[in-house]
Amino acid sequence: MRYRGYPIEQLAEKCSFLEVAYLVLFGELPTEPELKEWTDKITYHTMLHESTKKSLEGFRHDAHPMGMFISTVAALSTIYPDARNVLDPEVRKLQIYRLIGKVPTIAAYCYRHSLGFPYVYPDNDLSYTENFMNMLWRMVGPMYQANSALARALDILFILHADHEQNCSANMMRSAGSSQADPFVATAAAALSGPLHGGASKEVLKMLDEIGSKDRIPAYIEQIKAGHGKLMGFGHRIYKNYDPRARIIKWAADQVFQVTGRNPKLDIALELERIALEDEYFIKRKLYPNVDFYSGIIYQAMGFDPAMFTVLFAIPRTVGWLAQWQEMIMDPEQKIARPRQIYIGHNVRDFVSIEKR
Ligand code: COA
Repeated sequence: MRYRGYPIEQLAEKCSFLEVAYLVLFGELPTEPELKEWTDKITYHTMLHESTKKSLEGFRHDAHPMGMFISTVAALSTIYPDARNVLDPEVRKLQIYRLIGKVPTIAAYCYRHSLGFPYVYPDNDLSYTENFMNMLWRMVGPMYQANSALARALDILFILHADHEQNCSANMMRSAGSSQADPFVATAAAALSGPLHGGASKEVLKMLDEIGSKDRIPAYIEQIKAGHGKLMGFGHRIYKNYDPRARIIKWAADQVFQVTGRNPKLDIALELERIALEDEYFIKRKLYPNVDFYSGIIYQAMGFDPAMFTVLFAIPRTVGWLAQWQEMIMDPEQKIARPRQIYIGHNVRDFVSIEKR
């Protein structure tokens, strides 16, 4: 897996998320002055208009964070009507700053809304992930300080999730954006929802809870092999040897658990992986752990509720969606999306009045 030619392992080890975001969007790693300017621009756009805050108030306390996130991203379209002029490169750039700057704020506000806590305004002296953690978890006074190891682990998880070719949501971003809709509504259309895209990390936790202890793993695997369900967090449409992101996430998990203490689910996950990788069924079908196998365990150890997992995916993926959108808009051959329909219904026939049907 590479972004613009650079192996994901090198980027995860050596870059910050914003550096990778610049690479994904503009094609090259930024120089120092470019990175500074880019970071300043993103930081400048982290605030939400107060009316956005008010519209969040309209959601029920138990609304799913992803539903609130998607709706609030779409609502930005009402605040920035200038965004409609998508053929102007400067206008596009401004919306890119706005979206990347604001998605952590929106995510944190959705989370605080579910808890009934007051919103915490962005702090522009903090890094992208530290600021996000601050908006999520600061309670009274300026006493919260994000743990730097956890902030770095989150940064790495964000790097791993920035883009991933023509998956369901990237494809949606291009399709919705092809009507020249503004990027706020296109992003809302693309944003992940549903258990088949971005939801597997939550399902992995459910599965590990269901297994409960290491001695029950063999029986669970037999059940899967007999065709009762799937091993969640295993298998991938494209990766048929190993998902390179899973290896990096495993490393990040170690860093996180040194701070938070070991999530007991990790031991079950490690043993499940070991047994599955030695099993003929999984070997033959080339089924290996994917990115979601360990990410949920890490997020949970960091204190995130599983309902937030897709939102945590959507924050960095906004970068990928915008890169896909920008590329699509700039493509001179691009037309409005219209998949070819193969009609298999009736041929032409005469109308039948209702009493004769
Ligand atoms: N557990 C058990 N068996 C699995 C499996 C899993 N996680 N994933 C695939 N298989 C089996 C299929 O049943 C099929 O077996 P068969 O040949 O005997 O019918 C074979 O492996 C090929 O699977 P297929 O459905 O063709 O793979 P795919 O590329 O279409 O699906 C996924 C990819 C990711 C949708 C699929 O592996 C899956 O559902 N995984 C679990 C959910 C998950 O982790 N999603 C996150 C992806 S990042």
